[in-house]
Amino acid sequence: MSEAGLPPLPSSDRPEVAARLREALLGASFTADGLLDLLGAPAYAALARSETVPALRATRGDTPLEALVRLFLLQQPVPHARVADVLPVEDCLDSGWLRRVGADELAATVDVRPYGGADGEDWFIVSDLGCAVGGAGGIGSRDEGVVLGVGGASTTLAGITVRTPVSSALDLGTGSGIQALHASRHATRVTATDVNPRALHITALTLALSGAPAADLREGSLFSPVRGDETFDLVVSNPPFVISPGARLTYRDGGMSGDDLCRTIVQEAGDRLNEGGFAQFLANWEHVEGEDWQDRLRSWVPRGCDAWIVQREMQDITQYVELWLRDAGDHRGDVAEYQARYDAWLDEFEARKVKAVGFGWITLRKSGSVVPSVTVEEWPHPVEQPLGETVRAHFERLDYLRTHDDAALLEASFRLAGEVVQEQVGLPGAEDPEHVVLRQNRGMRRATKVDTVGAGFAGVCDGTMSAGRILDAIAQLLGEDPVVLRDRTPAQIRLLVEQGFLEPAG
Ligand SMILES: C[S@@+](CC[C@H](N)C(=O)[O-])C[C@H]1O[C@@H](n2cnc3c(N)ncnc32)[C@H](O)[C@@H]1O
Repeated sequence: MSEAGLPPLPSSDRPEVAARLREALLGASFTADGLLDLLGAPAYAALARSETVPALRATRGDTPLEALVRLFLLQQPVPHARVADVLPVEDCLDSGWLRRVGADELAATVDVRPYGGADGEDWFIVSDLGCAVGGAGGIGSRDEGVVLGVGGASTTLAGITVRTPVSSALDLGTGSGIQALHASRHATRVTATDVNPRALHITALTLALSGAPAADLREGSLFSPVRGDETFDLVVSNPPFVISPGARLTYRDGGMSGDDLCRTIVQEAGDRLNEGGFAQFLANWEHVEGEDWQDRLRSWVPRGCDAWIVQREMQDITQYVELWLRDAGDHRGDVAEYQARYDAWLDEFEARKVKAVGFGWITLRKSGSVVPSVTVEEWPHPVEQPLGETVRAHFERLDYLRTHDDAALLEASFRLAGEVVQEQVGLPGAEDPEHVVLRQNRGMRRATKVDTVGAGFAGVCDGTMSAGRILDAIAQLLGEDPVVLRDRTPAQIRLLVEQGFLEPAG
């Protein structure tokens, strides 16, 4: 991987300097909360969209925090004396965090962005200058080896990751190291891989500056850096999932045909998981003419793994191409070049009969089950992040349902999950609702239609009475045959348990 054109990075084997720099940054309140206080919410949010003007306007003063924001987030040279008031300047110059500009100014060599961990940790994400945020605004560099900071995809994956304490975690395609950083909180050993050596270097800086333990950093493509029979309790990857012609930008273009890169990662992850372990990925997948996209994804799931695949968004091929041309900033360049790229991209999709591209989450859990449970669904609605606990509980409920036939379900008792409400939908003024919907206010925030029996049943579930006895009581109330009700309702109970509306009690 060429690093030609990219500036040298700070030294990653000077942990004592990273520790001193960290102390100085924290001392000046260069934290997520400190930035929000200084910049205000609109300018802070604009920064996350790569828009720097509001932050430049908010940092015209002379406080240490303003100097740090200008230096590390806004790529502005700052007078030496101002920096020396807040940072160990000579150390930072020696180890390459800062460089001299002209006679009397200093500039940062990398972007350093405060990032708050889920438990209030003050972390820092290091990335290439001008590349802290990807997205539709376009990154500040077109060098193929450029390393990006935290984008929406990064935080989505961090949010859905199951965070139970584990011995070993693998972050495949670590980039800035954000997933490895999160994993360092609950995994005894963290291995981080990347095909781009610059990313491994930056991951080491992110971990050191965040005060996290060092990870085992390995260079190589996909699972090739993983040794023969090495397995993990957790595998995470926000891979270069963009389906594009050619491998142009390492951080996003996998360089394999179509969605082969995502498929390969999913298929090979099964052999890399310990029993009970989770593998969680973000992915893009093709919707191919004449093929059922859900069947296509089901065929990716490796043997011995349960899977939960959620399509969060789908774009037609024109929207998709535009999104990623903009991501690279191509819309700001030469018009003819932009159009030629657009055209070539559509050619590629047409040749493979791709009509649209899906984006979503893939979670595997190694269960060793002979008949694995594979759920492929569309859920484009807002969810409540972090979702890691919801993901873990989804697979736990599957285990429960697998081991309880209908008779056992009727013997069991259930509890209505927290913050589930009932909505009645129908014409204004109508005496009876057309249908009743149960809605979750937590986790996936699902909504599901239920009949009168289902709604009545869910309302009574407080964990004390068995499902069968509740159904008998409902049958009596509605004047229905209890045997018929016991026969037809378990399918509905199963769905309510599977979707997390009801929780097995005890
Ligand atoms: C979208 S970035 C994700 C970075 C980071 N993990 C995150 O969540 O923000 C994808 C990363 O995968 C790396 N990568 C690209 N091709 C790869 C391959 N074949 N094998 C391993 N990593 C690869 C890129 O260098 C980049 O760092």
